[in-house]
Amino acid sequence: MSNDITVRQATARDISELADIAERTFPLACPADTSSKDIQDYIQQSLSEVAFGDHMSSAETDFYLAGVGEGAAVGYSMLVDGSSGGPAGMGEDLVELRRIYVVAEAHGKGVGAALLERAEKRARGLGRSGIWLGTNQANHRAISFYRKHGFQQVGTRTFEVGKSVEQDFVMTKQLG
Ligand SMILES: CC(C)(COP(=O)(O)OP(=O)(O)OC[C@H]1O[C@@H](n2cnc3c(N)ncnc32)[C@H](O)[C@@H]1OP(=O)(O)O)[C@@H](O)C(=O)NCCC(=O)NCCS
Repeated sequence: MSNDITVRQATARDISELADIAERTFPLACPADTSSKDIQDYIQQSLSEVAFGDHMSSAETDFYLAGVGEGAAVGYSMLVDGSSGGPAGMGEDLVELRRIYVVAEAHGKGVGAALLERAEKRARGLGRSGIWLGTNQANHRAISFYRKHGFQQVGTRTFEVGKSVEQDFVMTKQLG
């Protein structure tokens, strides 16, 4: 990982930057056959500044922003403690990594790894035994990234993007 990568917790002052990165990066996680209308509908409903503000007001939710050097942020993550919808019987002892997104120009530089490392630190700090997440079954880049970092597939779920019902893998990583 590059020493230039920084990760910091985001605050309400960062909402516009978070929404901007989210809008740019969400399409990267969608399968090629997801319609742009569905993607735009999802962005409007779930990744607006209002939506980020709502999430940020929840005590269980944390956002992190990652940057390289002195430049603008190039990635973000969203963690939810005690979220429902996790692997059966395990959800309450795990933190959900609900989002981890890096702009395309910064892929492959260790930014995702730095965000994941911060998520693990946060989960440990909360006394949780691991992390869970859902990822699109067609998102081979993300699946390979998660596997490389010790996640294993434990189930499946569906996830709605606009009117499109996407097929996700559910993955977990136990923290030692
Ligand atoms: C998944 C993601 C967060 C990884 O972030 P990153 O900063 O590129 O990750 P890192 O540089 O730390 O690690 C790169 C790893 O990602 C995987 N990866 C990157 N590009 C890949 C590609 N084209 N094909 C397959 N795997 C790829 C590999 O495991 C790679 O490891 P390697 O460099 O040793 O081969 C980033 O690719 C991303 O934001 N993707 C789009 C949004 C997304 O899909 N988010 C996850 C939603 S569940």
